[in-house]
Amino acid sequence: MAMIARKCPTVTVTVVDLWKERIDAWNSDELPIYEPGLDELVKGVRGVNLFFTTDAERVIAESDIIFVSVNTPTKTFGIGAGHASNVKNLELAARTIAKVRWNVKLLPLLLLVVRWGMKLRCGMKLVL
Ligand SMILES: NC(=O)c1ccc[n+]([C@@H]2O[C@H](COP(=O)([O-])OP(=O)(O)OC[C@H]3O[C@@H](n4cnc5c(N)ncnc54)[C@H](O)[C@@H]3O)[C@@H](O)[C@H]2O)c1
Repeated sequence: MAMIARKCPTVTVTVVDLWKERIDAWNSDELPIYEPGLDELVKGVRGVNLFFTTDAERVIAESDIIFVSVNTPTKTFGIGAGHASNVKNLELAARTIAKVRWNVKLLPLLLLVVRWGMKLRCGMKLVL
């Protein structure tokens, strides 16, 4: 997202997380993750066209494209425990989007552990 903001200065990119401490860290001098060059990249565009917030509903209402990139950990109980993905975070994100914007046109999903077929089904369900 920081790279999109850097390469597309006319586009406003807002990163939303429900985890306030993590958003606070993204807004601080001590970023929550390390990648070579990330510090300079984020600090160069943060507050210009890159923003971090927990205010999901406002950002959903204002956005043209919504990238969903929530964690989908392996299920620890129930059907598929030990190998299937727990998609409760994805479901919550989808429900929040659906509550605010029933007419979202473009909703890319970034989910590593969910199989492609499932991603496709989720995407179509969300878009319609
Ligand atoms: N990190 C990578 O290099 C990488 C690469 C490819 C794909 N992915 C996939 O991208 C997704 C995210 O990866 P990550 O490394 O950023 O995971 P992460 O666990 O570091 O971050 C996910 C964040 O989503 C937040 N979240 C959960 N539910 C939410 C909701 N309903 N609304 C708003 N925020 C919510 C969590 O609080 C958490 O901070 C995963 O599905 C992962 O498999 C990650």
